Amino acid sequence: MSRQADMIVGLQWGDEGKGKIVDHMAQTHDVVCRFAGGHNAGHTIVVDGKKYALHLIPSGVLNPKAINIIGNGVVVSPENLIDKELKQFADMKGRLFISDKAHLLLPYHAQIDQAKEKLRKKAIGTTGKGIGPAYTDKITRVGHRVGELHHPEKLADKIMNYFEDNQVIFSVMEIETPSKEALLALLKHYQNELQEYIVDTTQLVWKYLHDEKKVLLEGAQGTMLDIDHGTYPYVTSSNTVSAGACTGLGLSPKDIGKVTGISKAYCTRVGNGPFPSEDFGKDGERLAEVGHEFGTTTGRKRRCGWFDAVAAKHASRLNGCDQIALMKLDVLDGFEEIKVCVGYEFEGEEIDYVPYDLEAVKPIYKHFEGWDRVEGIREYDALPTKAKEYIKALEALTETKIGIISTSPDRKDTIIVK
Ligand code: GDP
Ligand code: IMO
Ligand code: MG
Repeated sequence: MSRQADMIVGLQWGDEGKGKIVDHMAQTHDVVCRFAGGHNAGHTIVVDGKKYALHLIPSGVLNPKAINIIGNGVVVSPENLIDKELKQFADMKGRLFISDKAHLLLPYHAQIDQAKEKLRKKAIGTTGKGIGPAYTDKITRVGHRVGELHHPEKLADKIMNYFEDNQVIFSVMEIETPSKEALLALLKHYQNELQEYIVDTTQLVWKYLHDEKKVLLEGAQGTMLDIDHGTYPYVTSSNTVSAGACTGLGLSPKDIGKVTGISKAYCTRVGNGPFPSEDFGKDGERLAEVGHEFGTTTGRKRRCGWFDAVAAKHASRLNGCDQIALMKLDVLDGFEEIKVCVGYEFEGEEIDYVPYDLEAVKPIYKHFEGWDRVEGIREYDALPTKAKEYIKALEALTETKIGIISTSPDRKDTIIVK
């Protein structure tokens, strides 16, 4: 018998505050694993006023005792890892492991991503990091894997063949490819910097679970950005839901234990695509301003609106959530009235489920009375009555217990509901 892993997953369109909760939980976990996405993710952690932005490295990194794993389902940009992320931390050897089966995201993937976005009549609004092209190569079986960095000469030959196969596309997109010498030098650099981290992470996670270690699975992006269950085609290119952790790490469904869904007390989205409860007026502006809703990865302004209980209930069911962590409740401080989307108007009818085409729905709102201030509160009993009523209403609407409430970016300002 081995222990089951706990899981954190985003319930909205990303940026729900996963980083804060993973960091909080990492204090009591031995291992934190990423299973999907790439450096399109931007997870912010604030400890004693100091801010850390993580993209590929799991958010367990600030617990010095935690082991961090980047699973096979992630697309790994060596450049981002070496030049940006690893530099933030002292020696990570023995604390970070990268799957040899994870796919490499190389500079040309980002160039293809950006060129395609420019050519599209309706852009997706990607992060431009190369995520779609890297997963495309994986699925069409022309990708290159992290384990191949152990043999840079062989890998350079393979990539040169890939350039030749794609010559026509690259020239239309005006993408210049490096010479073999330059490519080999780059791959050798990646090998030097990363080789000690590259292992079979599936075996490693199995061993940790077998040894009864506490393992935490860190989702990236959010349920509504899932390639199958999100607002396609305005989604990312991976399975962001809890099931993605099975394929993205080599776990079986039986390995998954408690699932915590992360959701803001309101809602945001960055990039294009449907967002039924978006507020285009001064309330949306206020949420953006008070919530500092600017992307961690691209700096883009996030679109803001009200909590969408229909989408959240759907997301909770998709992920098998045991509880919700309700984030950024303090951003609603001082609002006289707070709206919650409790249903959709769809083809002349009122519905309470997420239909095929979310673009075609109109939100139906229920209004709640606001409260004065919850910022920094750390005990449930100290919350204002109206805030408690709001939380209870969201629990009923999503049919999911709210087990964690966050009242500021700081690790300590977190209420664990008894
Ligand atoms: P992630 O991608 O889900 O990890 O979320 P991001 O880090 O991209 O965005 C969440 C932002 O909200 C970060 O800047 C956090 O520091 C901040 N944050 C998290 N929880 C709270 C909270 O309870 N209150 C406030 N005001 N900010 C929070
Ligand atoms: P975290 O983990 C918010 C969005 C992009 C775009 C769409 C596709 O920080 O919650 P991509 O570059 O993945 O091909 O872009 O997905 N997106 C995110 N939005 N948070 C994220 O990650 C996101 N990762 C991708 O803005 O709309
Ligand atoms: Mg983010």
